Amino acid sequence: MRLDKLLGELNIGTRSEVKKLITKGRISVNGSIVTKPDEKVDEESALITYEGREYRYKKFSFYMLNKPEGILTANTDSDTPTIMDLLPKELRNTHFSIGRLDKDTTGLIIVCNDGELVHRLLSPKKHVDKKYLVTIEKPLNDTDIKTLENGVDIGEKNLTAQSKVEIIDENNIYLTIHEGKFHQIKRMLKAVDNNVLALKRISLGGVSLDRNLQSGQYRELTDQEIKTLYEN
Ligand code: URA
Repeated sequence: MRLDKLLGELNIGTRSEVKKLITKGRISVNGSIVTKPDEKVDEESALITYEGREYRYKKFSFYMLNKPEGILTANTDSDTPTIMDLLPKELRNTHFSIGRLDKDTTGLIIVCNDGELVHRLLSPKKHVDKKYLVTIEKPLNDTDIKTLENGVDIGEKNLTAQSKVEIIDENNIYLTIHEGKFHQIKRMLKAVDNNVLALKRISLGGVSLDRNLQSGQYRELTDQEIKTLYEN
């Protein structure tokens, strides 16, 4: 790949900005200064240094967002803010969310630009774990718990797949599901004559929402978290 293109991909600057940096001798590749913007470099192995910071090219990038309420899981919408308004603007046309959350649901959203992985993790055959913190209107009894865990009728052809309920207190539970039907958790709780008052996703495919991320904040996934996603 041309060096100026690579620097652009690394978000060091626009194509014209990085050309200037290169010709001014501000960029080194594997320890040597390179001054020709069209110099071909091996993007897989090149170690780029600029202003004392090291950069390596990664084909795919992954971000987690702590989604606030009132935000749509979509790439664009003319009226309502979307998750892409909270993420770096250069991700808008390249990155996609691994599954959706309702507008009023908060918590973990993961976006990435490996379309094949997104597709694979969303396939109904792939039973990727999704864990939610659910605030409910009233306590669950033992029958409700069994029904939710063994499969509940939410008006689809089949009952929901097995799930796991963990009681936190009378009004809060963890519910782990492996499917992603429309409004699934709200419909499951309705089916046992309850109601969801608040819903927050806290993990997806083995990756947990970082407790240090405030609502609306994002960060890149660590290498370990990326590995975990691919292990699904
Ligand atoms: N289940 C729901 O009802 N809503 C969500 O946003 C996610 C799961």
